[in-house]
Amino acid sequence: MPFPKDFLWGAASASYQVEGAAAEDGKVPGIWDALYKGHVKRDENAAVSADHYHHYKEDVALMKQIGLKSYRFSVSWPRVMSAEGVVNPKGIEFYSNLVDELLCAGIEPLVTLYHWDLPMWAYEMGGWESERISDLFAEYTRIVVDALSDRVQYWMTVNEPQCFIGAGYLGGVHAPFLQVPEKMPTLLRNYMLAHGKSTLVIRQNAKKPPKVGMAPVGSGYTPADNSPEEIERAKKLTYEDMMGLSLWLDPIILGEVPDMLKGLLSEEDLQIIHQPLDFFGFNIYNSQNYEDQNADKGYQGYDGMPRTAMGWAVTPECLYWMPKFHYERYHLPILITENGMANLDWVSLDGAVHDPQRIDYLRRYLRELEKAIDEGVPVIGYQYWSIMDNFEWADGFDRRFGLIYVDYRTGKRTLKDSAHEYARIISVNGAGI
Ligand code: NOJ
Repeated sequence: MPFPKDFLWGAASASYQVEGAAAEDGKVPGIWDALYKGHVKRDENAAVSADHYHHYKEDVALMKQIGLKSYRFSVSWPRVMSAEGVVNPKGIEFYSNLVDELLCAGIEPLVTLYHWDLPMWAYEMGGWESERISDLFAEYTRIVVDALSDRVQYWMTVNEPQCFIGAGYLGGVHAPFLQVPEKMPTLLRNYMLAHGKSTLVIRQNAKKPPKVGMAPVGSGYTPADNSPEEIERAKKLTYEDMMGLSLWLDPIILGEVPDMLKGLLSEEDLQIIHQPLDFFGFNIYNSQNYEDQNADKGYQGYDGMPRTAMGWAVTPECLYWMPKFHYERYHLPILITENGMANLDWVSLDGAVHDPQRIDYLRRYLRELEKAIDEGVPVIGYQYWSIMDNFEWADGFDRRFGLIYVDYRTGKRTLKDSAHEYARIISVNGAGI
């Protein structure tokens, strides 16, 4: 079976990682702007980054050239709200213009409301640790929905809660760079309530019938072989592992409370949290294969296995197994909200950016996704991460994930070879990849 006719071939980005214009037109600081010092390689920051804020028209033109059908971006909360209850019209205008530009280019906007740039003012009120955060997030959602929902249909509430809580509040490697494991239950509850209230606000206020989902990390374990026992074992590990998906998603999607959260979520909480969703979006870069795990050495995979510039194992089969597992468990159409790789890209002597590994990666992963589609999993789209090179959080600017190369000194964009290949793939709707 080929990719569906109206498949959302796309690419993704996030406000803080690409926009720059960190203090322009009324934008107030977010936690990454204010707290990055001492936590990011070489103390780099995204005050300018790819400067998408000023280049958005050129960027949308490049997306059109690639033939994207969709573009997933996030709205920066500190750009659109200067304080509690205070809207920044200039910030709203930027996203409104971006949406118009996309629609004009025939590209469907997919909007993420929270991709990790919490305003400092909300952080100072307690941030994700505070009981108030879900109401603040609901208010922010309403402002964005009022401004964009006449044109935007696809909404994702939060991006990778496992990461902004895990890396931000347990590991201390992402903003706000804290290590407060004892707050884990509160953080989980607050994120779930924020998602639930935001979903309700979207449903109640959207002018265009909304499609609501989220973008959690969706990776897990793949079976070592196709025996039913192995498949069961992989599934169990995927959902029930300590930080497994059921902890983060079952209350939201199934209305079921895993043991670790018993006693924490009340019936009333659950009613807010457990909102019907329209799709199951997830970010996925690789998976664990239990058999392959080099446990005593503390890393995944076999010696010398292919790895990206992040050091992440290349495991294309995750795009077959995870959509299958997640569809079976959650019964929602699947949207791949992120998948891609960092590569050691540079501009060659001939002026082009040659990235054969990324082309191979794309094709290998998409083949596996097609296999899942062949077996009846409804997959509505695939968003490559990322549309352009950007600020890779604590890793700074070294890690280039883009289809578009960005020279951060000048803002000059160059389509990489992989962008041309992706354009070809899209033009034939994924046939024969
Ligand atoms: C997940 C995150 O959503 C995104 O912000 C990040 O850049 C990519 N993965 C790559 O690490």
